[in-house]
Amino acid sequence: MLSGCSNINHEAEEEGGSQQTDISPQDAQIQNPEDMFTVQKRTVLMAATVILIVILVLLGGVVITACRLMEVIDQLNTDVHKEFPSLSRKEGIVPEEVWRWIVAAKADMTLNPQSAHYLLKVSSDNKSLYQASLSSPPRVPTNETYLLCSCVSSKNLLNTRAYFALKVTQRVPWTLGLRTESFNADRSPDTDPNAGIWTIASAEGKIIINDGKATPTLHVTPAMLGLYLDYARGQVSFYDSVVKRHLHTYLTTFKEKLRFYAAVQVGQLETQDMLISFV
Ligand SMILES: *[C@@H]1O[C@H](CO)[C@@H](O)[C@H](O)[C@H]1NC(C)=O
Ligand SMILES: *[C@@H]1O[C@H](CO)[C@@H](O)[C@H](O)[C@H]1NC(C)=O
Repeated sequence: MLSGCSNINHEAEEEGGSQQTDISPQDAQIQNPEDMFTVQKRTVLMAATVILIVILVLLGGVVITACRLMEVIDQLNTDVHKEFPSLSRKEGIVPEEVWRWIVAAKADMTLNPQSAHYLLKVSSDNKSLYQASLSSPPRVPTNETYLLCSCVSSKNLLNTRAYFALKVTQRVPWTLGLRTESFNADRSPDTDPNAGIWTIASAEGKIIINDGKATPTLHVTPAMLGLYLDYARGQVSFYDSVVKRHLHTYLTTFKEKLRFYAAVQVGQLETQDMLISFV
């Protein structure tokens, strides 16, 4: 801008200088038509330069304003995201953007057929759990097989943010959630978070919180359950994933990787119904 201004002054001085010579304007026209043409050309060039500079300055202003706006929007987004973890464990229906943020952490879960108690059977795609047919041949247990507890674990070992949904039976009682890798339900009850297991249960169509006191809730057992882990924050949350309602959150500090865990009460009646199934 400054150099543009000094150029203008410089040009103006030159023009003034040529007018101070003794040659009459007529002579000038006759003798130096090229000079006149040059002066006009310079004026046009100068005007064009000034216009260009003005446009550049305006454009610069627009770019700077846009950049500032982006920064402000970025800041707003960060602030909103900061709220997401606390909103993810608030009572009631989860806000839509928070739900999208949770579901974006979707983990592809599979059950470990080797872990299943002999009364339970994992589907061939390792996604669903059924009652084993009493006529099916006995399986040889491995060191991962539940021998006493009618339980199953996931193959997945989790230690990040992870979300998954599963269909759950409303017909028979179950307990499910996450357990540490070393927790063994054959030896310890699955209802005490201090032992390294964070679960909820379903009994008589209602959800119970296994916080060590088996706290009953008014929540009806949903057809589809959402489970969300934020390992770094020590958070395990359960949702009715049909209506996106928060059911319960455990807050703790994890020291071990976690597996999905489910115990289902079977044996009284033979049934072909799906008990739980990852979706
Ligand atoms: C299911 O698990 C078994 C045992 O780990 C494995 O051999 C099989 O490939 C798995 N099936 C699928 C479809 O992942
Ligand atoms: C089972 O045995 C395998 C290999 O022997 C071992 O890697 C694994 O940690 C064992 N699992 C459990 C639950 O003890």
